[in-house]
Parts: sequence; C-alpha cells; structure tokens
Amino acid sequence: MKKVYIETLGCQMNKSDAERMYGMLEHCGYTQTENPKEADMLIINTCSIRQLSEDKAYSAIGVWGKWKKNKPDLKIVFAGCVAQQAGEKLFRRAPYVDLVIGTQRLYELPNLVKRIEAGERVVSTEEKPYEESDIQINRVKSVNAWVPIMEGCNNFCSYCIVPYTRGRERSRKPELILNEVKKALEEGFKEITLLGQNVDSYGKWLAEKTEENPWGYTKDEEGNVINLAWLLRRVNALEGKFRIRFVTSYPTDITEELIDTVIELDKVCEYFHIPMQSGDDYVLKKMNRRYDYATYKKICENIRSRIPDVTITSDFIAGFPCETEEQFQNTLKAMTELELDYSNTAAYSPREKTVAAKWVDLYIPEDVKTERLARLNEHNRECCLKSNQKYIGREMEVLIEKYEEAGGSGRGANIISGRTRNNKIVHIPYDEDITGEFVNVKITSARTWYLRGEMIN
Ligand code: SAH
Ligand code: SF4
Ligand code: F3S
Repeated sequence: MKKVYIETLGCQMNKSDAERMYGMLEHCGYTQTENPKEADMLIINTCSIRQLSEDKAYSAIGVWGKWKKNKPDLKIVFAGCVAQQAGEKLFRRAPYVDLVIGTQRLYELPNLVKRIEAGERVVSTEEKPYEESDIQINRVKSVNAWVPIMEGCNNFCSYCIVPYTRGRERSRKPELILNEVKKALEEGFKEITLLGQNVDSYGKWLAEKTEENPWGYTKDEEGNVINLAWLLRRVNALEGKFRIRFVTSYPTDITEELIDTVIELDKVCEYFHIPMQSGDDYVLKKMNRRYDYATYKKICENIRSRIPDVTITSDFIAGFPCETEEQFQNTLKAMTELELDYSNTAAYSPREKTVAAKWVDLYIPEDVKTERLARLNEHNRECCLKSNQKYIGREMEVLIEKYEEAGGSGRGANIISGRTRNNKIVHIPYDEDITGEFVNVKITSARTWYLRGEMIN
C-alpha cells in the first residue's frame, strides 16, 4: 500500500474532515503515516480563519514542493478552507500542487485521487456540496468521537470568512448521523460530540423552504420536527453508557426546547459553547451579530438558572475595527459579570471578502490589539480559576481520557486525567491506565486550566 500524510490546521471540523479523508483514502490503497518524509501523498488541510493560519498553510506546502524535486511521483494535495477560496489561483502560486479540493467537495476525493494518479492536475472547488455516501471514517484514537451534523453558515458576521469557506448552512441526513454515532459507539467511543458551525440550526433546509415552512424543516414518521433537540433525543436513546455534547451554538438560536432537552436527557452534558465576540452593543452591531449584551446576558442567566453547574464557554475578538478602549472594557466586564467559565480569544485579523476588512481607516493598530488581547487573556485566566474553585470539595464523575506516567512534565506521580460532565479537566493520581472508564472523584484543588482530584471508589 502507498502512504498518505495529512497535516490538519484549524478547527474541529477540519480534524473531522481529515478522519474522513483517511477513511476514503484507505479504499484507494493508501495507509496513514505519521511521517511526511515517507509519504507518497501529502495533504495540507488548511484553515483561513485568521491570516496567520493561512500563512502556515503556504509555508508548509513550500517545503513539500522542494521534496518533490527528488521524488517526482509525490502527490501534493491542498484541501480545506483556504483551498475552497484559492481554487485555480493556487496552481500559479504553487505549481507543484496536484490537487486543490474545496471543503464542499470532500466526498469527491476518491474520484479526484484516481485522476491525479493518472497524471492530471485538478481543481475542484465548486460551491456545490458533492453528494455524501456512507464512507469509512478512520477516527483518531480517543474517547470522544466528533460527528458533524451540519456545515456552513448563513450569518455573515462582518469579520468572518467561514460563510465563504464552508458555504451555506446544510444539515446532514439524520439516518447518516445516527448510523455514524452507532458505529462510533460500537468502536468503543464513550463520548459523542455533535459538531457544526451553528449546531442549533440543525434540521433547517432538509426540505425545500416554502411559505408555510420558511426554514425548510422536515418531520419524522410521528410528525415531530427534526431539529437539534430531536437529534439529541435519538442519540440519547441509543444503548450504553456514554456522553453527548454539541458545539457551537449561536446565542439567539438556543431555544427553550433545546434547554429542556439538555435537562431531560441523561447523557447530554451540562455544557454550552456560546460565542459572544464582544460585550459592547455598538461593536456587536458592527460585527453583524444579531443580539445585544442584554440579550446574551438573559440567555446565559436563563441557562444557568435552569441547569445547575452548567459550564458556559465563549469566544471573543480583541481589537475589532472601531473598537474603543471603553468598548473593549465592556467585553472584560461581560466576562466577569456572566462568570464565563472559559473563553477562546483572538486579535482581529482582516479577512479578504468580509465586510469589516474594508474598514481600513478604522483598523486598530497592531500594538493596541496585542495589548488588548493580553488583557483579555489575563481576564480569561482569572475567570477560569474562579470557575474551577467553585468545585473544590465536590464529588464529580470523570470520564478518563489519558494516562501519564510519573516523570513527564515534572510530575511526581502517575496521573490519569479526563473531563467532568461540565467539561472541566481533572487530574487524578492513579497507577493504572483506565482510559475510557467513568470514575467518581473528589475535587481537592483548583488550578487555572484544570482541577485536581482523588478517586472515591
Ligand atoms: N460559528 C461560531 C464561530 C466559528 S469561527 C460562532 O458563531 O461564533 C471561531 C471563532 O473564530 C469565532 O467565534 C471568532 O471569535 C473567531 N474569528 C472568526 N473570524 C475572526 C477574525 N477575522 N479575526 C479574529 N478572530 C476571528
Ligand atoms: Fe458564521 Fe458568524 Fe460563526 Fe463566522 S462567527 S461561523 S459568520 S456565525
Ligand atoms: Fe478554519 Fe475553516 Fe474551521 S476557516 S476555523 S478550518 S471552518
């Protein structure tokens, strides 16, 4: 068999695509290798959320292009979010690339590979999803399986490239998703994370939209609307002990029905990832987010009041064009006021095609962005520690993900680690690798990024 190496940049959706590519390529006669130097095919699976991620993609293939001089049969594939936009242009920039495949053409990969093996150079970046078939998925060994349920975005936040790279929102067919979940559980996965750019839009557009059905929802055999809550119920009904999570939620798309479902279903964990982006109303408007701070706050407080110990995490951008110091401080205040448990942070990066990138006169200088990001991160650390301290003395169920022997990273004891239902990482001294097991733990202390605990039973 030939060998293929995939380098994945970017978010979980890209990582999930890589597992699918490995699966499809096995059927084309390629096994996976961790060593790019021995590969017959190299794939860069790119991300363009920020300039830095895009730059990384180009520098990686530059190196591979040089290898091809001594290994002319080497195939180089440019995939993912940068590919979707670059298309034909990429061949001019990187003449050694054999295939440019966009995110929406993922399932066409086996056919495209045949063509490049026959010596063709191919670009496939049409903005039309290639029909999905029931393919093999070579998942990364782990306790958690990521299962995409929808892809794409219709929101067009003014800073964000995703609607251009992942296309319009579309939901995967429920039977494909449920089959995939069943297979993952049979393979021994203990946690299923339903994945999508806007998971709460699941089910929209499965049918043609009409006047009576503007969101294009369909119904099941009993007449129930197929949406995220429906899907959670179906997954929850599958046999066995496992956990269910879902990411990412758009704040105003979280329905009462969804919250009810999270409360009602035993396997669905107490965890929401709800990006706020900014705590300032003017900035939110310029970002084209469809809520103000008061609305976000209400959503957050509603969830907290109904689900004890729920973890709410968020994303924030520092130095969005036009953001004043005062507006930035509203973000810091929001983080504290809502006691957010953890936040992903980034400095604003202008992206081609997006609306905000055109506001060059309003750009915030690099040094100011960097300084605001540093303050945002400091604030985030404080919030995380405070959130973790709430759990000292508590008993919690942990799903073990990892075993590390003493000695590594300065540890004096063997450690197992995993997550609680509400997504807190816990380290526990223990001398045996029990990855994949659920254990009860008493929390003894809190660090910024994790808790420490001891085994109860
Ligand atoms: N669909 C999710 C987020 C997807 S992108 C949502 O609606 O929030 C992941 C995160 O990247 C975003 O939440 C945002 O914080 C960040 N991001 C997106 N575009 C960015 C840009 N141009 N510069 C900096 N950060 C950006
Ligand atoms: Fe869509 Fe906005 Fe999220 Fe980007 S940040 S993926 S545009 S909702
Ligand atoms: Fe990046 Fe594409 Fe994900 S731009 S963050 S890999 S959807």
